[in-house]
Amino acid sequence: MGYRVAVIGAGIIAGSHLAALRKLDALAACAVADVRLGRAEAMAAEYGISPYADYKEMIVREKPDIAVVTLPHHLHREAATFAADRGCHVLLEKPMATSVRECDDIAAAVERGGVKLMVGHTQHYIAENIAAKAVIESGRLGRLLLINDRRHQRYDVPGRPDWFFDKAKAGGGILTNLGAHSIDKIQWLTGEPIVRVTAGIHYAGMRGDIEGGGSAFLATATGIYATLSQSGYPGAIVDETEFRFEGGSMKLLTGRGLWVSDGGEYAEVPVGPKPDPFVGQFEDLVAAIETGCEPACAMAYSRSIVAVVESLYLSHEQGAEVAVVR
Ligand SMILES: NC(=O)c1ccc[n+]([C@@H]2O[C@H](COP(=O)([O-])OP(=O)(O)OC[C@H]3O[C@@H](n4cnc5c(N)ncnc54)[C@H](O)[C@@H]3O)[C@@H](O)[C@H]2O)c1
Repeated sequence: MGYRVAVIGAGIIAGSHLAALRKLDALAACAVADVRLGRAEAMAAEYGISPYADYKEMIVREKPDIAVVTLPHHLHREAATFAADRGCHVLLEKPMATSVRECDDIAAAVERGGVKLMVGHTQHYIAENIAAKAVIESGRLGRLLLINDRRHQRYDVPGRPDWFFDKAKAGGGILTNLGAHSIDKIQWLTGEPIVRVTAGIHYAGMRGDIEGGGSAFLATATGIYATLSQSGYPGAIVDETEFRFEGGSMKLLTGRGLWVSDGGEYAEVPVGPKPDPFVGQFEDLVAAIETGCEPACAMAYSRSIVAVVESLYLSHEQGAEVAVVR
């Protein structure tokens, strides 16, 4: 008998988790809950599982081994702690929560419940990113010095749920949502925490009370310097990370390709097969459950991403560099 999995939230990303579960023999979806019962019912019908309106009732009645939390960010703490306190392992969507204080509450519940919690930082499972990490770790381009990460895409697009534009529910705008991916990419690929942040943020002209874009200067523990630039205003779409080393450079277009130069023109690096990141996340969580080891995107690491996101807003408010809270 495999692991029974219940999904909390039947929105956009829940379908990716349920589709991944279909590909895994060791896991089986059993139920899905959404306050909009119609959404849970439609998804439940598609996957042959039970629908609920109340996720707490679902956890209590179904007693799943694993709960997948795919809720708006301000509900991550409540759902993850409820599930962990009832003995469920948790796959929690990114970002872990809207503040480090909430992350600490989640960690306390996971400890009480004696369960594993992993945050779904999908960047770790994308083929080009994995290949980029291998180049960095091979040392073939020398010491890594600088990173420029640029992500521009219109944020107020049809189909984006309303809660994303409400800071109380989302925690912030593009810098929270896509910033979590960029910060994860920088910290995971360098293997270093970001320790200092200076940010400037624009709010004008964006829907709701979230920011529309901003730029930041980030420093890692050993002094790799990175710039982060994100705009949710209209304009050409960009998703590019460039790395400058002592002996070369590397251009990463996540999902599209990887290029390396040791002084001349960029040459494309072949990347391996492109596995489904949502499958990889479940496999890592199951491995953590079965070995007792911490999963790849463990709580302390995932909390560090939230800490950097919080520092971006703090730096902007203070008009000064901020040391990231540990
Ligand atoms: N890893 C990725 O690449 C990726 C991509 C998209 C979204 N996400 C993350 O996934 C999470 C969900 O995002 P989404 O785009 O699917 O949002 P969504 O709004 O489509 O889905 C959230 C669902 O939760 C439901 N909900 C709200 N309150 C509830 C409650 N109290 N009980 C039960 N259901 C409730 C809503 O009705 C909605 O259907 C977020 O953390 C987001 O950042 C990650």
